[in-house]
Amino acid sequence: MPKKAYVRAHTNIALIKYWGKRDETDFLPMNSSLSMTLDKLYTDTMVVFDEALPKDSFYLNGEKQGEKETQKISNFLDLFREEKNTAMRARVESINHVPTAAGLASSASAFAALAGAANLALGLDLDPQRLSTFARRGSGSATRSIYGGFVEWDMGTCSDDSFAVPVDDAGWDIGIVIVAVNQKAKEVSSRIGMKRTVETSPFYPAWVESAKRDILDIKAAIAAKDFIRLGEITEANGMKMHGTMLGAEPPFSYWEPDSIVAIKTAQALRKQGIACYVTMDAGPNVKVLCRLSQAETIKEALLEHFTEDKLIITKPGKGIRELTAAE
Ligand code: PMV
Repeated sequence: MPKKAYVRAHTNIALIKYWGKRDETDFLPMNSSLSMTLDKLYTDTMVVFDEALPKDSFYLNGEKQGEKETQKISNFLDLFREEKNTAMRARVESINHVPTAAGLASSASAFAALAGAANLALGLDLDPQRLSTFARRGSGSATRSIYGGFVEWDMGTCSDDSFAVPVDDAGWDIGIVIVAVNQKAKEVSSRIGMKRTVETSPFYPAWVESAKRDILDIKAAIAAKDFIRLGEITEANGMKMHGTMLGAEPPFSYWEPDSIVAIKTAQALRKQGIACYVTMDAGPNVKVLCRLSQAETIKEALLEHFTEDKLIITKPGKGIRELTAAE
């Protein structure tokens, strides 16, 4: 009998970034990170394990994927096959639900959804925390997408305790305006970028030290529901991460001219009394952290520089969940 499951996972945006691995094989990070799961951007993944399948196959948005992409999925599924002690191959079908023209497809939602579906399909019954240690080995940021709201990825001491911890459901007046600057493929992948930074940037040790303090401070801000403090720590932490890349050899940056336009717009709004803070990941897109009740006002200001299809407002999202076939 084929074993099948269908799961949705949302992407997340790190407020305290994960940047650098201490173990490349097991995806163990150099520092703990903390994110907010996002409602609008998610991946739905169906997995069918079947004795009759000769090999794994992977379809993304209806298109059969090539050898390289499929191999990555196969390697990831091996973790689950090992746990279950089975050799069954699988067919994986994923749909990325990302607003058009955004170029925001994320490995976080992809691997969290696949982890959730493989767990259910094989009847492994891994609890969410343990499941996050599996998601981690697909993509570090996927660790945090198992849960909703604010989520910490505790760096841990080994593979078993480097997992996600839910911090707060983020059920307050908080949101993100995403500025999708462009959709070009990155010149430096996050994997390569991290490695180069860890190995060559003299700023890197300072990053690790200050990230330790930032994670404590942001958890205190979340506990106090102090939005301003949360935003200040978020913006400063993201800037520090991008600073480490300028110190790498050879130096690199993910910023583009339009990233700066978005940052300046947010900073100008702040001068007018609208609390909003920027953060960026391994790409040129800018995420503006704000009060959800002020997101439309911020979008209005950004519309002076960006077209409507590049601006996405989202509230905090939930953790992974099983879908019915009809969804
Ligand atoms: O795990 P990856 O390859 O998605 O790397 C994530 C790196 C950042 O997005 C820059 C930071 C983060 O914590 O998500």
